[in-house]
Amino acid sequence: MKRVDDFRFRLGRHELVPIVIGGMGVDISTVELALEAARLGGVGHISDAMVPTVIDRHFKTRFVKDKLKLYKANVQNLMDKTLVKFHLGELEEATRMHVRRAMDAKRGEGMVFINCMEKLTMNAPKETLKVRLNAALDAGIDGITLAAGLHLGSFALMEEHPRFRDAKLGIIVSSLRALQLFLRKNARCGRLPDYVVVEGPLAGGHLGFGLDDWMKYDLASIVTEIQNWLRGEQLDIPLIPAGGIFTGSDAAAFLERGAAAVQVATRFTVTRECGLPDVVKQEYFKANENDIEVNGISPTGYPMRMIKSSPGIGAGTHPNCESFGYLLDANGRCAYIDAYNREVAAHPGEKKIRVTDKTCLCTHMRDFNIWTCGHYTYRLKDTSVRREDGSYALLSAEHVFRDYQFSTDGQVTLPAD
Ligand SMILES: Cc1cc2nc3c(=O)[nH]c(=O)nc-3n(C[C@H](O)[C@H](O)[C@H](O)COP(=O)(O)O)c2cc1C
Repeated sequence: MKRVDDFRFRLGRHELVPIVIGGMGVDISTVELALEAARLGGVGHISDAMVPTVIDRHFKTRFVKDKLKLYKANVQNLMDKTLVKFHLGELEEATRMHVRRAMDAKRGEGMVFINCMEKLTMNAPKETLKVRLNAALDAGIDGITLAAGLHLGSFALMEEHPRFRDAKLGIIVSSLRALQLFLRKNARCGRLPDYVVVEGPLAGGHLGFGLDDWMKYDLASIVTEIQNWLRGEQLDIPLIPAGGIFTGSDAAAFLERGAAAVQVATRFTVTRECGLPDVVKQEYFKANENDIEVNGISPTGYPMRMIKSSPGIGAGTHPNCESFGYLLDANGRCAYIDAYNREVAAHPGEKKIRVTDKTCLCTHMRDFNIWTCGHYTYRLKDTSVRREDGSYALLSAEHVFRDYQFSTDGQVTLPAD
């Protein structure tokens, strides 16, 4: 049986280990994690989710405080958030700082990409997306993966950039239809994606399937359908399956069937380089299958997979749009604000509000209180050793990467501890 290391991911003039660590916002796939993937010859992603907040944490800047100061008078105005805008110059600066931090430190033959989330509409979708994409290119990012949401116009937002044809640009889709739509709308840019991540229903984060039907789909079938269609169209675009690829053997099976690489994430959530706090990493280790659910509490409207005991579920957080506001749509609205207002109206005079159907995702992703995870998180306990105090040993990203690269027969190598 073949192993991952028997294959190489050819991307233009690059020859990579065919392992891509997927983007995990907000700062779960850290610069440190992405750099390890690159050092080991694969591809690592940083995320472009809530970058000003992330940069404040790493550089002691004041992007969030300054924004809050500017809009403080609007904090109690829960009916109208239209004026709460991002300063585009600051967004550009924060994105450049974030990307440079990665690119300046990059070593090895691998690459660092940024996962760009179209659903971060930021009360001015087109303008903010354009700034984020172009600032990442300015700062020398090796590639941009356009994540969920259809991103039909995103290539056009970068086409004036001098690196538009040289940087690697890819998209994430969960169906053939989404890919066809993208290629049709994007045709006038005269540039195909350099790779397509095909994300199945077992992935972490937001899902590109319905809340009630995600379980009817399976990754291998979607990949085969897309592969056949591309062949029929004589399109040669590398495919990268993602979602539920837990062992090196799972990965090798996809590579043997013609995938160019695999994208993985869950196994890396319990590495030292991952941005989750250590106590949360222990929650991931401990989770059992029935502790994990796909629910509809993300205000984006996409289903999201998470650990049921995430503290952000059911919290009645006062909306923090003046500090954050990443999910405000083009009209300054967010489904969480509507849910919050509904509960306030239903419980007049009550101090502690509970909102169960939606969550203030900006606040809780920033604070690592929504524990989004892949379906197979419940198998993480089998990838480490348990200490006497009941906690699990954290892994190094190198250990997990090499396990994917070299393991066979469905084996997972345990750490020496
Ligand atoms: C904690 C976590 C956060 C994630 N966040 C994002 C994200 O911000 N954007 C995105 O496109 N995908 C996100 N994903 C999906 C991963 O990038 C990846 O495609 C998928 O989880 C791979 O499946 P696996 O976790 O079973 O290996 C996330 C996954 C996890 C586990």
